[in-house]
Amino acid sequence: MSLVDRDLKIIWHPYTQMKTAQPPIPIVRGEGALLFDENGKSYIDAVSSWWVNIHGHAHPYIAQKVAEQLNKLEHVIFAGFTHEPAVELAERLLKIIPNNQAKVFYSDNGSTAVEVAIKMCLQYWHNQGIRRTKILAFKNAYHGDTFGAMAVSGRSAFTAAFDSLLFEVEFIDLPDAANIQSLKSQISDLKSDLACFIFEPLVQGAGGMIMYEAEYLDQLMAHCQAEDVLLIADEVFTGFGRTGKRFACECLTTQPDIMCFSKGLTGGTMAMGLTTCTQKIYDSFLSEDKLKTLFHGHSYTANPVACSAALASMDIFMQESTLQNIQRIADAHAKFALKIKDHPRIRTTRQTGTILAMEWETGSDTSYFNSLRDRLYQYFLDAGIILRPLGNILYILPPYCITDGQLDYIYSKIETALEEI
Ligand SMILES: Cc1ncc(COP(=O)(O)O)c(C=O)c1O
Repeated sequence: MSLVDRDLKIIWHPYTQMKTAQPPIPIVRGEGALLFDENGKSYIDAVSSWWVNIHGHAHPYIAQKVAEQLNKLEHVIFAGFTHEPAVELAERLLKIIPNNQAKVFYSDNGSTAVEVAIKMCLQYWHNQGIRRTKILAFKNAYHGDTFGAMAVSGRSAFTAAFDSLLFEVEFIDLPDAANIQSLKSQISDLKSDLACFIFEPLVQGAGGMIMYEAEYLDQLMAHCQAEDVLLIADEVFTGFGRTGKRFACECLTTQPDIMCFSKGLTGGTMAMGLTTCTQKIYDSFLSEDKLKTLFHGHSYTANPVACSAALASMDIFMQESTLQNIQRIADAHAKFALKIKDHPRIRTTRQTGTILAMEWETGSDTSYFNSLRDRLYQYFLDAGIILRPLGNILYILPPYCITDGQLDYIYSKIETALEEI
């Protein structure tokens, strides 16, 4: 039996309607921005494998560091024990994120990083005997698939089957010049109930690569801070260079109380999530009273191999050449966006750093279920490019090592798709 047949017999794939989906493509190896299937066909990974792979596949330096760690220590329970890679990673990360972040809590993925952040905020108030239990979030947000993360995400097709079970959240519009004052007064009206405000800084990823201005987010954050509403910056997607800066929060003057990371953290090598917080949040859990403990932990918390992958990824991330690559991709995207923006099939283009999104004209509203999605997906696969449109929103989000030739090839195939599809 072929690998695909064995897979189809027993495996249930994520975000996949198994009845109608095309069979999965068996990938046997990766190199740089390329993935290779069983038959040797190559695919440019233009979505960085769900936005995680920032330095290219099977990076030899990361592989070497992971192998070295595997030969020393593969895992140890993280309650009551510690190890060098976890401490070093926390030390180094805290040096490059907003300087009010003081403590690091490890978990397994982006959703768990968000769960931990929400729990930190809710229990921060609980531990002080103050009843603030509501959470503020943006409409159309996406923070993950576990129940807490779903609850603070916009209600959508993703959450529909569970909506009645999700805790109530106050959703507000993305801020702009026109609505900023009314958003501030909405927050002031709710302030005595609000525990925290969670947001994806600058770009709502899964919601359709929706981009908004740092200036108005900054104003909202400052207003929340003045009203004692804790701030959670979910940088699971935007972190590690995606937006052109090392972290999206570098575009803001107000500092968040809590930050969530995953995806690019290990360069796409190992599953890992991480939540950081200020000393103030951490201190609210310190007590002789054991009930004030943060009762949260996963079996693989701070896995040493994942930490060493993250450390190796950070070594590469901090090299000047990586920032130059990010700028190179941003410049190439900008040039291409300018070239196609007036094409009759393009409704709008938008770009933040290495993220370029193009909304296609379909004659109907923008939707995740637009049938154009499947045609575009297949068209690019046939051309040896992995692009996964969100409905009629096509986006490019490559590993930073992608070559100019590979980028040009993607752009040229998008131009032919604009004519042929
Ligand atoms: C902003 C944001 N937060 C959280 C998550 C959830 O991360 P994970 O898929 O690793 O659970 C995602 C995933 O796309 C995300 O984009």
